[in-house]
Formats: sequence, C-alpha cells, structure tokens
Amino acid sequence: MIPLTATGDAASPQPVLASPRLLLAPIEPAHCTDLHALFSDPEAMRFMDGPPSRSLEETAKRAETYLFPLPIWHATWVLRERSGGPVIGLVNYHHRENWNNRLEIGFALRRSSWGKGFMREAIAALLDHCFGALDIHRVEATVNPDNQAGIRLLEALKFRFEGGPMRARQRVGGEFRDLSMYGLLRPEWRAFRRAAQNGLPQPPLAGGAIAHRSGAAA
Ligand SMILES: CC(C)(COP(=O)(O)OP(=O)(O)OC[C@H]1O[C@@H](n2cnc3c(N)ncnc32)[C@H](O)[C@@H]1OP(=O)(O)O)[C@@H](O)C(=O)NCCC(=O)NCCS
Repeated sequence: MIPLTATGDAASPQPVLASPRLLLAPIEPAHCTDLHALFSDPEAMRFMDGPPSRSLEETAKRAETYLFPLPIWHATWVLRERSGGPVIGLVNYHHRENWNNRLEIGFALRRSSWGKGFMREAIAALLDHCFGALDIHRVEATVNPDNQAGIRLLEALKFRFEGGPMRARQRVGGEFRDLSMYGLLRPEWRAFRRAAQNGLPQPPLAGGAIAHRSGAAA
C-alpha cells in the first residue's frame, strides 16, 4: 500500500516562494492567459512534454493538470518578477515519492525572459523548499539530451548527470523521445548554498559525472 502520510505535508500545503527578483505563487486558472505565451511558442515547447497549444482553450486544458495541486504528489508555481508584469513561466515538482524522500522537478520560461538567470533563481527557491519543508533527500530532473539550456541550468545548480539517454522515455504527441537523468542530493545542495552564501568557490562534486553525458548533449 502507498503510504499517504507524508512528513512535513500538513505543515507545507503550497506556500508562496520568493527569490531575489521573483515571486513564485501557486498556479490559478487566471494565469492561463499569460501562460499561453509560453505554451503556444514552438521554440519554448521544443523539449517539453507536449506539443505547442494552438489555442487558449488548449492551454487551459493543458493547465488543468497543474490546477489541482496535490502537494503529496505534485505542485506548480507560476513565476512573476517582483517588479510586476505578467507570469513569465512556471516550476513544479511531480512524481513525489515521500516514502523515498524523492521527487522530480519541471521548469519552463517564456522566451522573452530567457538568458537572464531567472530560472536559476526560481529553481533555487524551489529546491530550498523541497529540501527544507518537504524533507526531500533527492531531486531528479529528466532532460532531452539536446536541451542545452536545460542541461546548463541544471549543471549550474550542481545537478549531476546520472545516466541516459533513456530511450523512448517520453511521448510527445505521437513521437517517443529519449531523456537523460540528472540528480541532486540534499547534502550537495546545502554545501552549494553555504559556499555561495560565504562567497567561497563552489565545492567540486565527487565524481565529476557531467563529463559522461550523451554525445548529443556534449
Ligand atoms: C531551460 C530554461 C528554463 C533556461 O532558463 P533561463 O532563465 O534562460 O536560464 P538561465 O538564464 O538561468 O541560464 C542558465 C544557464 O543556461 C545557459 N543557457 C541559457 N540559454 C541557453 C541556450 N539557449 N543554450 C545554451 N546555454 C544556455 C546560461 O548561459 C546559463 O549557463 P551559465 O551559468 O553557465 O552561463 C529556458 O531556456 C526554457 O524555458 N526553455 C524551454 C523549456 C524547457 O526546455 N524546459 C526544460 C524541460 S526539462
């Protein structure tokens, strides 16, 4: 039987999170219009788990899966700059397995906000929440081996390449796609955070596994 009583869950339904420049708020139906700029953009959707939306209705349908958060399993936050403006993206966790203190994260940003370090901030805030209030020990991310931006981002946050590409791991429309596995453990994240706060050089992670990632991504 799946143990549904999760450590930390009662105390952490889905708080608003914050990073230096961003606020991360639980997703609501009203966010769909802003999210359409992301979900309808073929370039932004290139490595996502579904094809681009062709209408606002399709975006709303897609967002339904995010709109009923069950923090024991999954939760999604939308990103906004603290200075105001529209929703610029989202982060989430899913496949949470509290009996293994493990979950997987997902992330996407509208194209006009790429390359400004926003997602690094947003994921750092999410990781603090996961490794803190949610008592998670291991965070996973599965990434298309051709997704250079996604891989760079994970590497910058000290995720380690752990294997792959796993063949036909994801179906997008009628097409099966490969995914590589990246993982980050709580002690690694805490060491990285401490070093960053003290302005020290980042500690090397034993193994240096990044070098093994797939030829397509290298
Ligand atoms: C992946 C994504 C979230 C990156 O967000 P971002 O805010 O632009 O990333 P950052 O600005 O924090 O940059 C993080 C790192 O990626 C690098 N990067 C950003 N865009 C890049 C690109 N197109 N190609 C190669 N590297 C890139 C940055 O230079 C930075 O690396 P550095 O610290 O070594 O310089 C964004 O490109 C996106 O939303 N892509 C579409 C959705 C997606 O693919 N999601 C992931 C699904 S698993």
